[in-house]
Amino acid sequence: MTLLESCPDILVLARLPVINEEPDCGLRFHGPWDRARRNEFLDSHGARVRGIATSGKVPVDAALLDRVPQVEIIASFGVGYDQIDLTAVKARRITVTNTPDVLTEEVADLALGLLIATVRRIPQADRFVRDGSWTAGPFPLSQSLRGRTVGIVGLGRIGRAVARRLEAARIAVAYYAPHRRPGVSLPYYPSAGELAAAVGALVLCAPGGDATRGMIDAAVLAALGPGGVIVNVSRGSLVDEAALTDALERGIIAAAGLDVFADEPHVPPGLAARDDVVLLPHLGSATVPTRAAMGRLVLDNLVSWFRGAGPLTPIPETAWNPAVASAAGEAVHQ
Ligand code: 8YV
Repeated sequence: MTLLESCPDILVLARLPVINEEPDCGLRFHGPWDRARRNEFLDSHGARVRGIATSGKVPVDAALLDRVPQVEIIASFGVGYDQIDLTAVKARRITVTNTPDVLTEEVADLALGLLIATVRRIPQADRFVRDGSWTAGPFPLSQSLRGRTVGIVGLGRIGRAVARRLEAARIAVAYYAPHRRPGVSLPYYPSAGELAAAVGALVLCAPGGDATRGMIDAAVLAALGPGGVIVNVSRGSLVDEAALTDALERGIIAAAGLDVFADEPHVPPGLAARDDVVLLPHLGSATVPTRAAMGRLVLDNLVSWFRGAGPLTPIPETAWNPAVASAAGEAVHQ
């Protein structure tokens, strides 16, 4: 890799693979640090920062951007970018990149695994063997995926990859997205509630943010109905967690498999206490090769930008104005 003419200063907000591991990349990385150390750095050097490398877990808001007035690009590690205040970013004409494609199949693998684990009660069965219960009798029969239609909420890259897996497993698939996706022959429903009413499980693959906040509410859960299963690999903000806990408690739906939560790493105790819920600590993309590919893409975006070659994977145009995107039927999905 040739050195960049200048050596742009990049503020690193999270521990990321690849970043900081390539001293010859032509960028000077600062961080990640705890809040106090970062504040100290921003006080003395914020004015010279030209780029930010961050992850989906660290908010980037107007207050932070005010302290780094020369920032041109925010390279985010992950496909979701709902942690970034796009209004503040747009006002400052900052470019934002994410890491699509490199994690699609990995997240879809986890979604399918979590769906099967939830319906067939795999973690509960593992506990049953370990605690010696098997010697006292067989594990109770579970519900089945056979004969069940799975509804995908958000048919972007990840949603489509989940659909492919389900179809290969001979499981019927339907979907909801803000608009019918061109070239997709799967049954389409124009709202999450109508999809829920037609299927036996929902797999949530839509992006976070205001447009989807709380979309899986008490009414959608009621439409899904008894025996219904929810799997979430997108963002916890999509689900009204209190309504979900209540729906499980009252038998309105049967089970949930959750990889994401509204306030990670905190899981509502009402969900954590339940035997009909499978919990994962946000593992969607969390494998060694995929996280390395994501880190590489963050670095490559920054290098490309500061070489004057533009961003490699800018967030979609539609992200800047979801209302227009939705009206135009364009994809804002992951
Ligand atoms: C990220 C994710 O790894 O891509 C996303 O949007 O949720 C994860 O795969 C996580 O957000 C860390 O940044």
